[in-house]
Amino acid sequence: MKMTDYSNKVVLAPMVRISSLPLRLLSLEYGADLVWTEETIDKKIIGCERQVNPATGVIEYKKNNRLVFATHPDERNHVIFQIGTADPDLALQAALTVKDDVAGIDVNCGCPKKFSIHAGMGAALLSNQPVLKKILENLVQNSGLPVTCKVRILETPEKTRELVKMIEGTGVKAITVHCRTKDMRSSERAKWDALKDIVENVKTIPVVANGDVFEYGDIQKLKDHTNVSSAMIARGAEYNPSIFRKEGKLPVVDVIKAYLKKCVEVNNLPQNTKYCMLSMDKEKGHHTRSEIYDKMTHTKSHPSFCKLFGMEEFYEKEIAEQEARKKAASPHDDKVSQPPKRKLEEQEDDASTERVVKLAKTEQDKIEQPIQKATIEA
Ligand SMILES: Cc1cc2nc3c(=O)[nH]c(=O)nc-3n(C[C@H](O)[C@H](O)[C@H](O)COP(=O)(O)O)c2cc1C
Repeated sequence: MKMTDYSNKVVLAPMVRISSLPLRLLSLEYGADLVWTEETIDKKIIGCERQVNPATGVIEYKKNNRLVFATHPDERNHVIFQIGTADPDLALQAALTVKDDVAGIDVNCGCPKKFSIHAGMGAALLSNQPVLKKILENLVQNSGLPVTCKVRILETPEKTRELVKMIEGTGVKAITVHCRTKDMRSSERAKWDALKDIVENVKTIPVVANGDVFEYGDIQKLKDHTNVSSAMIARGAEYNPSIFRKEGKLPVVDVIKAYLKKCVEVNNLPQNTKYCMLSMDKEKGHHTRSEIYDKMTHTKSHPSFCKLFGMEEFYEKEIAEQEARKKAASPHDDKVSQPPKRKLEEQEDDASTERVVKLAKTEQDKIEQPIQKATIEA
């Protein structure tokens, strides 16, 4: 059984399209203790083939040649794989698929979106506690992984208390509580007060609090207010992942450059890179419309992003190294002499740039992701 400690931690939240590999690696570098993946539906990951990309070292889980989950040995002891599920057997199969590459498995019980609720997943599990109990027990007893669960608060303190006590009894290693009910919008203030009662009642495992941490200093405020053990940050890290630095946030342009470096190193999907970079240039959820934001909207590939930020030399060097590693791994493969990426002078495709910008513009669109066509916000 793997050991993962969830107490006294500051962690990156699961966020569709945002909590992908480069942001997780960067968050760890800035000081996050654990990083959650975005939600993956159980059936999506079951049946995936695992392969290691020799150029980047990235571990890729693919089905029908589509990438479903990417991870890297650097995050193995810190990454928590979140699943969307409504079925104890499928949940277990999903966990066993990724077992060797993750530090824990988390069940999403907070997603209020229609697609999730209709399938009995996400927040639907909050009102179907017998099934939730079976899912968690099956994972705890048979996956060999530490299991956790992310919930929202219910309408009354009594109902929430009953829920968290049931979850604690299944043998999970921690409970994350997003301090909003399933009907509350993210613009409404998170109810930190609700945590006091939960922390008083859940005695045997850490409670991870989630909601409205936008500065490093908010973590201590949250702890002082509620006695909670750990804090999970979502939008604060989406806007600026250097929120995990004890010393304070870095300027967003510096963070974007560091993020871009990670994206090139792990060969991230450029659409995802762009989406996340545009999400970073925000203040209180609104785009700053800075000069750099405008420039980013007209760019769409890793070489062009690097050019925009004066990182051409880094890009060429990194790609040459990836090529060399790939060639060393299969010296007789003619295809390896092809550069894995297009060159700096490649043409931009305005139409698809427009599409990505449009994607980034609304909160609603944030929940569509290239890998799993699903709408999630839990
Ligand atoms: C873009 C985005 C995507 C999200 N995707 C997920 C998800 O896949 N799984 C999940 O449990 N919560 C998801 N959430 C909810 C967050 O994990 C978190 O519970 C919520 O944003 C409240 O935290 P915050 O106030 O720090 O933003 C998402 C939130 C955002 C903003």
